[in-house]
Amino acid sequence: MVLPMNATLPATGLHVACIMDGNGRWARRRGLPRTAGHTAGEENLAEVVRIACARGVSYLTVFGFSTENWVRPKAEVRHILSLHKRLFGRVEELNANNVRINWIGRPFNEAGARTPAFVQRAIRQAIADTASNTGMVLTVAFDYGSRAELLRAAQLCISASEPITQEAVQSHLYSPELPNVDLLIRTSGESRISNFMLWQIANAQVFFTERSWPDLDAKEFDSALALLHK
Ligand code: IPE
Ligand code: IPE
Ligand code: MG
Repeated sequence: MVLPMNATLPATGLHVACIMDGNGRWARRRGLPRTAGHTAGEENLAEVVRIACARGVSYLTVFGFSTENWVRPKAEVRHILSLHKRLFGRVEELNANNVRINWIGRPFNEAGARTPAFVQRAIRQAIADTASNTGMVLTVAFDYGSRAELLRAAQLCISASEPITQEAVQSHLYSPELPNVDLLIRTSGESRISNFMLWQIANAQVFFTERSWPDLDAKEFDSALALLHK
């Protein structure tokens, strides 16, 4: 289903974050390879972006690939990488929805960072090509782990001889301008945080759903949003 865009909706200032889980199980239930689940997940992300825009969400942050996910079978990792190239290549759609792309994750030149050059290029290109959009900010967490982010922030405070205050740590996060998360959604029945945005979710409402990520639709997204009005 494609929701109509409503350009007159005011931005809410709302920050929604999603742990997009359950692609593998979605595929298994259909007798398909896990890679098919990831493909369906990427396609549903495009749909969730449209839904979030239509609801006036200001910031949507999604967990695409974690610092822990590199240990998965090589062929699966390769497939997920190619899907990120596809995702960051959706510039026409993003521009049509006035969405600005952002990325969080281990800086490409940091020891241990593993983002291959073709994904680095796709990320840089998408950021440049959507930089002048003024609507929702879509942040993709790729090669992201919250502990790595927080350790780096603390180290940057120390090397700048700054006292480690909340403001100083915030200023050294990968994307310091991102506001606190208001609502965290995790799909697929898992009630874990899996090292995602530990600092930013301090006061977030958390919505766990049995739905797999490829099946997260507007109705379920609205049930999650309703948590904010309880
Ligand atoms: C989430 O789906 C996508 C990534 C972690 C990249 P999974 O691949 O974790 O799917 P399940 O949890 O095995 O079903
Ligand atoms: C979290 O999902 C990471 C992403 C959604 C990218 P995982 O499936 O990797 O998390 P765990 O291993 O179940 O905690
Ligand atoms: Mg999983």
